[in-house]
Amino acid sequence: MSDLKNLLLEIDGYVAIVRLHRPAVLNALNLELMDELVATLDSLDRDENIRAIVLAGSEKAFAAGADIKEMASATAVDMLYRDQFSKWDRIRKIKKPIIAAVSGFALGGGCELMMHCDIVIASETARIGQPEINIGVMPGAGGTQRLTRAIGKVRAMEMVLTGKFITAQEAFDAGLVNKVVPVEFFLEEAVRLAQEIASKPPVAVRLAKEAVLKSFDTTIEMGLEFERKNFYLLFASEDMKEGMAAFVEKRTAEWKGK
Ligand code: HXC
Repeated sequence: MSDLKNLLLEIDGYVAIVRLHRPAVLNALNLELMDELVATLDSLDRDENIRAIVLAGSEKAFAAGADIKEMASATAVDMLYRDQFSKWDRIRKIKKPIIAAVSGFALGGGCELMMHCDIVIASETARIGQPEINIGVMPGAGGTQRLTRAIGKVRAMEMVLTGKFITAQEAFDAGLVNKVVPVEFFLEEAVRLAQEIASKPPVAVRLAKEAVLKSFDTTIEMGLEFERKNFYLLFASEDMKEGMAAFVEKRTAEWKGK
């Protein structure tokens, strides 16, 4: 991961901070950046010393979407063979919690990347939208599905069909972001939250994230079954024994991640 061209990576205790870094083009998501991002997230997901990931851009832009210049002359068959969405599927399968720190533009693929994350901290300056309609396409990395589930049909439909941007406050009111903070704190607040989650027992965090995500693609009956299996599974973890013993003995638990 040492020769990253389009990302900055920093480790702070159990938290990895991954920053999209193509400042000249507002972090437009080209194929090379996406390759680096997926490889980095995969590697952090396997790293036992990492318990939570923050994904951020700059103050000016989280990401202004897929790289339009890279797509402008592509044919449908080029896009089919490019198979770029298989990379996005890998991001969806990252097991560790990902907290998005969003400031400035989160547009098109940038909004979709934000919605691949588990929790979103937004700066007051965030502008969020699915403007693909203005360039003759439509969301392709899950926008029509995730935005609709997050904010409801009529609001998603308006954003997707008009391409208009919403403010951080509007996104908060609609349930798309968790918290809005002044721009100078957006990264700090996301890291703080990541550190808080990283202080929890890692196996429980992992199985809980998996169960919440399951609710997107299953019936309530199957989802409840899935939740129960993960709940029972946690009784096989050392951390569960430690957590309950610590409660009874009125002391702080020490997590091993086992
Ligand atoms: C390539 C981009 C880009 C993009 C910005 N730039 N967005 N390059 N792809 N998505 C480049 C500009 O060409 C310009 O480069 C530089 O970044 C600064 O942008 P400006 O337009 O000069 O800045 P500003 O006037 O402040 O306007 C900001 C903006 C605008 C409103 C964000 O750049 C914009 O509308 N960008 C496109 C947003 C968009 O349509 N996103 C959806 C893409 S489709 P130069 O070299 O001229 O200085 C998509 C499909 C997803 O995401 C499918 C899944 C992968």
